[in-house]
Amino acid sequence: MKLARIARIGHAALTKDPHPPPCVLGAEDAFSSLRSSLPASFLLGTATASHQIEGGLDNDWTDWERGASREGEPHIKDRTVSGAACDSWNRIEEDIALMRRLGANAYRFSVEWSRLEPTEGAWNEEAADRYLAWALALRAAGIEPMVTLHHFTLPRWVATQGGWMKDRTIELLASFSRKVAKKLGSAVDLWCTINEPNVLATMSYVKGVFPPGLTDSRIAAQVQARMLKAHARMAEAIREADTTDADGDGRATQIGIAHHVRIFQPATRSPLDRLIAGFTDRFFNEAIASAPLTGRIELDIPGVIHIDEAVPGLLGSFDYMGINYYGRDHVRAELRDPSLSKQYVPADRPVSDLGWDIYPEGLYQVLKRYGALGLPVYVTENGIADKGGEVRPSFLRAHFEALVRAAREGVDVRGYFHWSLLDNFEWAEGYEPRFGLFRVDFDHPDKRRTPTPAVETFQEIARGLGLRPEPG
Ligand code: NOJ
Repeated sequence: MKLARIARIGHAALTKDPHPPPCVLGAEDAFSSLRSSLPASFLLGTATASHQIEGGLDNDWTDWERGASREGEPHIKDRTVSGAACDSWNRIEEDIALMRRLGANAYRFSVEWSRLEPTEGAWNEEAADRYLAWALALRAAGIEPMVTLHHFTLPRWVATQGGWMKDRTIELLASFSRKVAKKLGSAVDLWCTINEPNVLATMSYVKGVFPPGLTDSRIAAQVQARMLKAHARMAEAIREADTTDADGDGRATQIGIAHHVRIFQPATRSPLDRLIAGFTDRFFNEAIASAPLTGRIELDIPGVIHIDEAVPGLLGSFDYMGINYYGRDHVRAELRDPSLSKQYVPADRPVSDLGWDIYPEGLYQVLKRYGALGLPVYVTENGIADKGGEVRPSFLRAHFEALVRAAREGVDVRGYFHWSLLDNFEWAEGYEPRFGLFRVDFDHPDKRRTPTPAVETFQEIARGLGLRPEPG
């Protein structure tokens, strides 16, 4: 694929051009070149999380959604609550039909801890049966399931015991993981222990916009460290409990984390901005990513906390590195802020509906950087809040092009999961942002799903990989 071509496609995304150049992946010759650039077993799919799509949940977020800050600001910007969400708990067949229509061969979803263990010591076998049925139905449809065990939410009973501020949560989550791996192991090989430890730590304990709503960077660092310890224990538990090779590749498990990586661009050339951007990068991007190599947790907030400790079981606990990539922040030093910086997007940049910088080049950079760890890489999330749906096609194309470019330069990238299959509950932002390849009508009793224009783009990529989207 010609670099100039990639640049043009990237440019189309950046300028929000409603008529981007034709996708190179759509040309006959490019189909075969795409196949030769990526492994035959490449996974192309979508990603979701239980709290955001299932509906009918009862966990720490359910409480948080009804609350407000001390200043009276509602925790959820648009004043919605997750409620019935997409009702995916009752609509998996419909959702699988959408995946087949996309031509996807993989799906990343999370199992909800509060559903499976609603109270301490209880186990909801019926819910576990349903998740197993999902994994089997996906597999029967030629769709490889990737299961996330922790995606932001905690059962209320874990949260009231102190949640991520308590070491006990590590063992509770490891024991939960063992049960899930035992139950789903015959149908699942691909496991993602924890989604975005750095985002959870930052949003919950620095910015205070996720429960429990604290603003203490010292606690945030401790929480991030604790989550890495939990990952190590969860990986051990999964390996013990899941000994069935479901996909016949000779391995019963592949375990990783979904790590949110951002590009932190110093706002100016000033040494202080560069220093703080570097510090932010180390805290947010590097701490998790270097752990598989060093077996240590190293987190440093100058003048606040310094953590550097070996974690038993961390070395060798990663079979892959999952990357969630959404964009870039400019970083200006702001020493009075708990994060020591102000992060922003310059006014002349193209942005998503959430004001996030659309920067496909960053995915290439991130894949090159983390590909060098020597572990296989999956893009476990990438997507855009785009209500009108007109920008998503060029966004998807440009980011996929960036992935292909990295793969051609030797990065062992094994899959791409688009966030998201459906519009869903976007945490503190509520239902306003629309991330779905399929739009969801939340007011409709059936939570009607309709395709956005990016469905065609996804299908083009799927065909390029030799997959067969089904007619809608
Ligand atoms: C990452 C999170 O894992 C997911 O829950 C969220 O909805 C998307 N990013 C979009 O912000």
